Amino acid sequence: MCGIVAYIGPREAYPILIKGLQRLEYRGYDSAGLVIANGGLNMYKTKGKVSDLVEYVKDQKTSGSIGIAHTRWATHGEPNQTNAHPHYSQSRKLAIIHNGIIENYSSLKEELIHRGYEFHSDTDTEVLVNLIEDIQTNEKVSLEEAVRIALNQVIGAYAIAILSVDSPDTIVAARKGSPLVIGIGKDDYFLASDATPIIEYTKNVVYLEDEEVAVLKRNEELKIRNIKNKELTPYIQELEWNLHELEKGGYEHFMMKEIYEQPRSIRDSMRGRLHAQEGTISLGGIIDYEQKLLHARRVIIIACGTSWHAGLVGEYLFEDIARVTVEVEYASEFRYRNPIIDEDDVVIAISQSGETADTLAAIELAKQRGATILGICNVVGSSIPRATHAGIYTHAGPEIGVASTKAFTAQVTILTLMALRLAELKGNIPKSRFMHLLAELENLPNHIEKSLNNRGIIQEIAKRFQDVSNFLYLGRGYNFPVALEGALKLKEISYIHAEGYPAAEMKHGPIALIDENMPVVFIAPKKGIYEKVVSNIQEVKARNGKIIAIVTEGDEHIKKIADYVIEIPETEEFLIPMLASIPLQKLAYHVAILRGCNVDQPRNLAKSVTVE
Ligand code: F6R
Repeated sequence: MCGIVAYIGPREAYPILIKGLQRLEYRGYDSAGLVIANGGLNMYKTKGKVSDLVEYVKDQKTSGSIGIAHTRWATHGEPNQTNAHPHYSQSRKLAIIHNGIIENYSSLKEELIHRGYEFHSDTDTEVLVNLIEDIQTNEKVSLEEAVRIALNQVIGAYAIAILSVDSPDTIVAARKGSPLVIGIGKDDYFLASDATPIIEYTKNVVYLEDEEVAVLKRNEELKIRNIKNKELTPYIQELEWNLHELEKGGYEHFMMKEIYEQPRSIRDSMRGRLHAQEGTISLGGIIDYEQKLLHARRVIIIACGTSWHAGLVGEYLFEDIARVTVEVEYASEFRYRNPIIDEDDVVIAISQSGETADTLAAIELAKQRGATILGICNVVGSSIPRATHAGIYTHAGPEIGVASTKAFTAQVTILTLMALRLAELKGNIPKSRFMHLLAELENLPNHIEKSLNNRGIIQEIAKRFQDVSNFLYLGRGYNFPVALEGALKLKEISYIHAEGYPAAEMKHGPIALIDENMPVVFIAPKKGIYEKVVSNIQEVKARNGKIIAIVTEGDEHIKKIADYVIEIPETEEFLIPMLASIPLQKLAYHVAILRGCNVDQPRNLAKSVTVE
């Protein structure tokens, strides 16, 4: 859950490391630090964000052309300067940065204490660096060899980079369960948790696999071995993303930029897959598994957070459009539930980052039991797509804001395409109706463009309710997951408590909360069981709750009852989740801004959750 950057080559390392950390700050931002090797290992670290590190280092000597840097999201030990990475070994001859958790660190630590090692931090990382030093000293082996031996004793997850005073032209890196990408420049190497710090310098990358150790040595070819000491040939790939996708592009925050990108990102998710004029859908990534999916005994969607909400929309889509039964599970529950699952089941794992630890563990469990695993993922080359049998990339582009926005609508787009493709294979929708559904889907980005213009009313609502302590979000059918997602967006970036509920469940409890101070957001398009939702609105009205309703353009009926309405264009019911979630993203954004919150980096959160 931390960010790693490292550099070795002819340039000054410091600016490359700092820029890289800034790009990775979405992964963690409670402390940051770096080491530059130049004679000795010069270490600077501080509590706070990368900007605090820059301030801290301001007047110090940072020259040198090899260095490692880290931005942290605390797991072991509170976020303070001592626990910040990098960490020295006891002799100060080694320095390490680490992302992940060493599960057996306390037994290793006890042994090292026994052998005279002293520890200054509460981290598992300091244990690892001393273990490596201990092996190097006792067994008189190279740094690479000591790392390899140490990693054979370690249980847990790691992405590490190590510098040594004795090998001043080398970085040793290794991974298991936490991502690492190596960028190969003309005469330099870059290393990072994802490709964003690298893309500016080179498009040629190697994704390190689990239990691989890489040696990045000045003026030498990249060397990779696995921890069993087998030499491997690096597989060089070309990056797809562009630099401009990583910039704010004139927006004040990444989150707003990403909200406004949605017409584009949804078009990209559909490109080459939706052929509305021909009335067909082609999903190349899962073509070999379509029959399996069609005849699966059960389809189980596993995911976390916002991706789980996308999965819930998927349940409605698959059942409604394709008549395929679906169960949706929190990956974190599924993995510990001893689920009944076998080779007749298909699991669809959804993840923006492709690194979520719970989702990865759930995939491994389902795989062990023989299920077919399909992935829906945004980050190309990340761990989840590599753990699945086949899958579909969402192509939403890099999502930097910690709160997921465009990734959600892209995931729902892919699930919609999958449901329609299954319906096409089954032939259970008359051709003319099928053609109409595809045309509506193709037109969705245009509807979104139109609805992105209603900024005025959303800002007014945000102003009116910025100081409340609670919000309720209600929806039915396809819009129940939208209510959950709207509530999640608000709570994670504004810190206002918000709950999403199926509107009809309100009378079984939450209705007790309603008084004149409670804003209730209804997702109430003129589709499905509209009249029932109107009744639920009346129930809130009768108790003086404040009603904010997402309605179909021109709905005069709800306008008369609600305090505020946000209009969305008329479309097919199955497309409303994508259309209706966007004003809710904007509402959360504006409330958070008015409350002075950091919308791109909300407290306690990080973009990829690589811990349990
Ligand atoms: C919410 C959010 C999180 C993620 C969750 C899963 O805005 O971003 O709830 O959706 O941590 O992450 P991925 O999709 O990367 O597996």
